[in-house]
Amino acid sequence: MSTNPAAPSPTPGPHLSQPVSFVRRGSRLQGRRRQAWAELDGFVVEVPRNTMADTSVDPDYRFDATAEFGREAPLVVEVGSGLGEAITHAAELQPHTNFLALEVYKPGLAQTLLRIEQKQLTNVRVAQANAAEALATMLPPGSVNELWVFFPDPWHKTRHRKRRLVKDDFAEVAARVLADGGLWRLATDWSDYAVQMRDVLAGAEHFTNVHDGERTGAESPLTQVWESGVELVVGGAPVREGKDPVSTGNTGVNEGIDTRGGWAPRFDGRILTSFENKAHEAGRMIFDLTYRKI
Ligand SMILES: C[S@@+](CC[C@H](N)C(=O)[O-])C[C@H]1O[C@@H](n2cnc3c(N)ncnc32)[C@H](O)[C@@H]1O
Repeated sequence: MSTNPAAPSPTPGPHLSQPVSFVRRGSRLQGRRRQAWAELDGFVVEVPRNTMADTSVDPDYRFDATAEFGREAPLVVEVGSGLGEAITHAAELQPHTNFLALEVYKPGLAQTLLRIEQKQLTNVRVAQANAAEALATMLPPGSVNELWVFFPDPWHKTRHRKRRLVKDDFAEVAARVLADGGLWRLATDWSDYAVQMRDVLAGAEHFTNVHDGERTGAESPLTQVWESGVELVVGGAPVREGKDPVSTGNTGVNEGIDTRGGWAPRFDGRILTSFENKAHEAGRMIFDLTYRKI
């Protein structure tokens, strides 16, 4: 690696001019996680990088699922798999499906490896990669049967919104990798991110909402959040006196009824992760959305 300040800077990847959806957290591994990373390397996809960032993806690299898994099978990709609770649980229940975890946080991937080992799974692979880049170039077009984005980082401050993962350009790369008829499942516990997801997907050419028009009015989790004001109290971000809550576009309690709906029932293939559990404990609503690639 050159330390010469005059050396050319790394070639920017397709998304490097955009703000990334994650904070670079420590990659250092310790104890069992470190050991898992060293010993279970057969489950780790070796992603060639195009910059010095260990989350970048060389745009010339193509993921070959048949070679990586040693078989042909439907492929589920989870973006932002965290500690791997959801993907390893699903993989255990569906041995005939291949699962790929895309995550930038190396300790989370190492924890996923520990779960793979503990459950003796053979149908999961993990890749440390910025999902926006992975979906843009690494995964072949039409190669994914289900794409999961569960509880993406909310970036609730207005000035950080541009960092949110689910926006128009991400919907384009999601459409690129999904097979026709494939599903994109999303979940969040932030009402205004849920609304953003619904808006982005409503404007996306290649997707149709599987639950279009369902759960409106009093049945809508959005109406329930607005009515209860729960995010005012437990929004996760401090609500300063005299300021609007950061977690909803509404200014107070009983100010809105969601007439659009479109919310999915809770996806029963998603185990209750510690993350979702904390949201439940705080009384927050969970928003599920499911779209089909057309
Ligand atoms: C709030 S956590 C949720 C984790 C998990 N889905 C769950 O439900 O427990 C969001 C995760 O997304 C990851 N992440 C954020 N942006 C990402 C990106 N562009 N590519 C891959 N992972 C990303 C973060 O590192 C973090 O682990």
